[in-house]
Amino acid sequence: MLRVCVLRLLGRAGTGRVSLLEDSRPRHYCSDSPGNRDLAGDGRAYFTTPIFYVNAAPHIGHLYSALLADALCRHRRLLVPPAAATRFSPGTDEHGLKIQQAAATAGLTPTELCDRVSAQFQQLFQKAGISSTDFIRTTEARHRLAVQHFWGVLKAQGLLYKGLYEGWYCASDECFLPETKVAWQPGPSGDSCPVSLESGHPVSWTKEENYIFRLSEFRKPLQRWLWGNPQAITPEPFQHAVLQWLEEDLPDLSVSRRSSHLHWGIPVPGDDSQTIYVWLDALVNYLTVIGYPNSEFKSWWPATSHIIGKDILKFHAIYWPALLLGAGMSPPHRIYVHSHWTVSGQKMSKSLGNVVDPRTCLDRYTVDGFRYFLLRQGVPNWDCDYYDEKVVKLLDSELADALGGLLNRCTANKINPSGTYPAFCTTCFPSEPGLVGPSVRAQTEDYALVSAVTTLPKQVADHYDNFQIYKALEAVSTCVRQTNGFVQRHAPWKLNWESPVDAPWLGTVLHVALECLRVFGTLLQPVTPNLADKLLSRLGVSARERSIGELHFLPRFYGHPCPFEGRRLGPETGLLFPRLDQSKTWLVKAHRT
Ligand code: MSP
Repeated sequence: MLRVCVLRLLGRAGTGRVSLLEDSRPRHYCSDSPGNRDLAGDGRAYFTTPIFYVNAAPHIGHLYSALLADALCRHRRLLVPPAAATRFSPGTDEHGLKIQQAAATAGLTPTELCDRVSAQFQQLFQKAGISSTDFIRTTEARHRLAVQHFWGVLKAQGLLYKGLYEGWYCASDECFLPETKVAWQPGPSGDSCPVSLESGHPVSWTKEENYIFRLSEFRKPLQRWLWGNPQAITPEPFQHAVLQWLEEDLPDLSVSRRSSHLHWGIPVPGDDSQTIYVWLDALVNYLTVIGYPNSEFKSWWPATSHIIGKDILKFHAIYWPALLLGAGMSPPHRIYVHSHWTVSGQKMSKSLGNVVDPRTCLDRYTVDGFRYFLLRQGVPNWDCDYYDEKVVKLLDSELADALGGLLNRCTANKINPSGTYPAFCTTCFPSEPGLVGPSVRAQTEDYALVSAVTTLPKQVADHYDNFQIYKALEAVSTCVRQTNGFVQRHAPWKLNWESPVDAPWLGTVLHVALECLRVFGTLLQPVTPNLADKLLSRLGVSARERSIGELHFLPRFYGHPCPFEGRRLGPETGLLFPRLDQSKTWLVKAHRT
């Protein structure tokens, strides 16, 4: 029999404190050491985005979350083929009070609202080239089964009990709040209303009997997990923040609501009077996708990387690992955390009317252009500000001028009339710097370029591993600039194919630049897949030659044969990335504001 306890709302947001009436038996939580089971163990890796609420249409922040996950997953596939060894799933979070209320406000049934908005997310992700292998909706039967099974495991472990919950609940954030996180502000009718200090969303007082999860027993296991896995939460300041939270109060967590209050959700097995708390429901989606509770899920868990926004860190880095440990499973392998996009310095919100529609952006700036912008400018550690002019400037300078210009310079008929990958001359560009001789043409800066591009794939991989994708793109962009400098320095347009003195060096200059472009194209695939495909196809690089493992930059310089020498370039298919058209009316407006 479950015992009724009085739950007082104290401590950190989202949890309640219980005055324990029950014995708390010491428990040992098993974990198959997540940190040691490397993703590369059998090559499998599973990436997730948060599942998105369907109370409103998608905005650029949602797309950003999904793009980060997509880029990580695509990069992983390039590192460890075959691609079949990855799973990647976004989805929609469709239950809970927030959705129940949004549907009522819109005059729709919850199912109608969910179908409508979930379709918008799916269309957006398809349009944006999100290379997912699944899309989960929490209203699916497979998910209900997984959640109810998971609940049963927690219950069998003695980790759920009934208690009387009394405290603040924020429906917009779907979380419980302690008194210290609530402020009183003038409401629309002038009277004072309670709101969440963190989000500013209204809160309401709740008093009901719920099922409670023994979260308080997990402080030590969670600390041990994080101490043993210093890269579990990346970037590091977020891991530090979680460890800090774990030093504070960790009261038990209410994990159900009265069905009369919340009917739009998954019923507690064996107790229809209660609906499972939407966050527990939502988090289990990560298991549903990999087949839980069927044992097939074990080949994907815990080789999992969750990509999340900073606002949902507590749910993923405290509640979720505690729930998993409680159910006898390991915490996820990695949690990658990003910050938010603001618009002209303000938080994006429907009420402020400043929500940026990602579909319009993908149309205006192209899929690759907008993907590049968000990932090049988005810094996980800090919030980033969005405005149209910034997009135009970045894309024109880095994709159209620098990268597109470089490709054009090396492939244009005028400079490369044979339309082939010219040979590299080891006498003009010896492997050893500093050699002198009549045919040696390479200069000190050229060796610096070769060295920078040689180490670029490793540098990029490290940045991905540290969830600093913008730094990976910055590194590529720096090398693109360096390569343009190389071409500029040697001015191949002044050299003559007919001259026996010039020809080998002219071929070498073009060869080196094309090799650099091959590296850039390969490394840009996770971020700008269509543009990279266009670039690599123009260079004549076949589909099998596009993985990072196959890169082998400038092999002739390193004393190996080069499979590209003499190969015909691919067909000319126009500008790699056209400059954004200055005459477009929206652009004129963007420049003025
Ligand atoms: N449904 C929960 C997640 C459950 S995961 C088991 C949720 N949904 S959400 O739609 O509100 O947010 C989804 C993701 O979008 C979160 O990672 C959140 O941080 C991110 N973003 C929401 N607004 C954002 C910005 N303005 N900028 C960047 N990301 C933003 O939370």
